[in-house]
Amino acid sequence: MENELINIKNNAVSLILDSNDPKDLEEIKLQFLGRSGKLTLAMKELPKIDPDKRKEVGILANEVKETIENTLKDKEQQLKHVNIKTKIEKIDVTNPGIRPPLGHLHLITQAILEITDIFERIGFTRVRYPEVEWDWYSFGALNFPENHPARDDWETFFIDEEPNKKFGPMLLTPHTSSGQIREMRNVVESASGGEIPPIKMLNIAKCYRRQSDVSHTLMFHQFETLAIAEKVSITDLKGVLDYFAKAYFGPDRKTRIRPYHFEFTEPSFEVDISCGMCNGQGCKLCKEGWLEMGGAGMVHPNVLKNAGLDPNKYTGFASGWGVERVLMMKEGIEIDDLRLLYSNKLEFLEQF
Ligand code: DAH
Repeated sequence: MENELINIKNNAVSLILDSNDPKDLEEIKLQFLGRSGKLTLAMKELPKIDPDKRKEVGILANEVKETIENTLKDKEQQLKHVNIKTKIEKIDVTNPGIRPPLGHLHLITQAILEITDIFERIGFTRVRYPEVEWDWYSFGALNFPENHPARDDWETFFIDEEPNKKFGPMLLTPHTSSGQIREMRNVVESASGGEIPPIKMLNIAKCYRRQSDVSHTLMFHQFETLAIAEKVSITDLKGVLDYFAKAYFGPDRKTRIRPYHFEFTEPSFEVDISCGMCNGQGCKLCKEGWLEMGGAGMVHPNVLKNAGLDPNKYTGFASGWGVERVLMMKEGIEIDDLRLLYSNKLEFLEQF
């Protein structure tokens, strides 16, 4: 029995040391230590041994088992190490790497950057004003009457805050026109009675209204221009509109202005752009060849006065359009539901 055990040990150890593959080690383990492995079967014979020799043989059998297990463990470790080493040696540094997933700017951010660039080229400066604003800047100073429906709770979000004595209730800016007042007052204040430099403002900001359907979201973006100087005329406005339409939509696009009404401009216009699908001929996308873009007009004298400017000396134009709207009108970008823009669905956003 002792000899048999020693043979088993020698046999197992040499097989283990000779093997180069973790799979072989598994087999060797089964062959010796498995349920019908050589050592297991030998150990089953122990009870048949003379009682006075049994203990000694039992100890030997356990030693053999331990030796086989330890040798197996050491060899496994050794093979693992070799494996890592050969793997490292196999790396081909000339292979192109795996690109980590890269994000990109949101579609609206891209549009804002493009719009900013277009206006900066003709001397407009992008400004930022508060999104949480006082009624006076958003409505009052813009010549809105006290009972104008835009002020209603179902149009504008009001903030639960003590109204300001001078500026009225606090709200979320429903349009970027509030920036007109902020800009003019800033310029007037910094001129402190001296010469007022020409103003060419581009205010792009988030706006908030109580609206949500396929073409409206609670939060959206507008870009507002304001140009103030002595003798600014409708011709200047028309020139800037044409310039923007061609730069943003393409050189074949034209603009037209139609009379309209806004509280803060006089005269006021609705601006249309010729349809890119039918080239102004009329198709199912447009109204007789034209697409509606947004509002514009000559700054109302009351607005100039409220901002601290003399309407007899200064004139100016303003325009305010939706970023989401112009983006959707740009050729090649069709979005059935505007709310998708802010849904954070990667399947949607990754397309752009
Ligand atoms: N603030 C207007 C709106 O949100 C848009 C607008 C119209 C802005 C005419 C202007 C303008 O500057 O002149 O509906």
